[in-house]
Amino acid sequence: MEEIYKERLWTIVEKIPFESKHLVQLKKNTILDLKTIFENKFDKYFLELGSGWGEVAIDLAGKNPETAFLLFEKNNGRLEYTAKQITKLGLENIKLACCNFNWFLKEFFESNSFDEILLNFPDPWPKKKHWQNRTINPKFLSELEYLLKENGRFRFATDHGAYGRKAILNFRKNSALKFTEEYSFKRENFPISVFEKEKLEENKKIYYLERTK
Ligand SMILES: C[S@@+](CC[C@H](N)C(=O)[O-])C[C@H]1O[C@@H](n2cnc3c(N)ncnc32)[C@H](O)[C@@H]1O
Repeated sequence: MEEIYKERLWTIVEKIPFESKHLVQLKKNTILDLKTIFENKFDKYFLELGSGWGEVAIDLAGKNPETAFLLFEKNNGRLEYTAKQITKLGLENIKLACCNFNWFLKEFFESNSFDEILLNFPDPWPKKKHWQNRTINPKFLSELEYLLKENGRFRFATDHGAYGRKAILNFRKNSALKFTEEYSFKRENFPISVFEKEKLEENKKIYYLERTK
């Protein structure tokens, strides 16, 4: 990335999107201290990328009180809605960050930070000229390797068949992230988001991938 362009992106990332005690402020060259952010109360850390309205993480956070959830989302309105839900439910184990994770991700964390990372229905960028914007690419997979703890898990879902198949091919080239089942068309014991429910009702085939470091 060109330096001037990168600087411009940092200016956007450092803007405060709205006031909320649930919001984590991101800063250039500053690694987040997860233990301090979550007041040393949790043993496990979960990162959701593109959390939308937050319903999946909110459901998981309620069921897993020993785990701290950090949500990255670029849409302020969705984040603000999520923050209100967190307050309403009194959840102490979720924090939010406003950021485009395709711009910066690894920069914010120590290696081996997360027990689990979720990328649930990312933008599929269906047009060939936009494929370079897709999150699943060799650079992202090496970031996953860096961010996940040993035995940490990555979950991915997409209703876009071509993206799902391309993701499988990308993972085949990465020997550090392993699977027991390469992909599946169903996923049990995991919250279903509003978006996913819509796709299931349309009878869309959904690719679910799971990898472990
Ligand atoms: C289709 S929605 C899926 C939302 C949710 N994960 C779910 O399971 O329903 C995709 C979400 O990811 C967010 N998103 C897409 N690309 C992103 C990026 N590069 N950085 C941050 N958020 C992103 C969008 O703003 C949107 O809220």
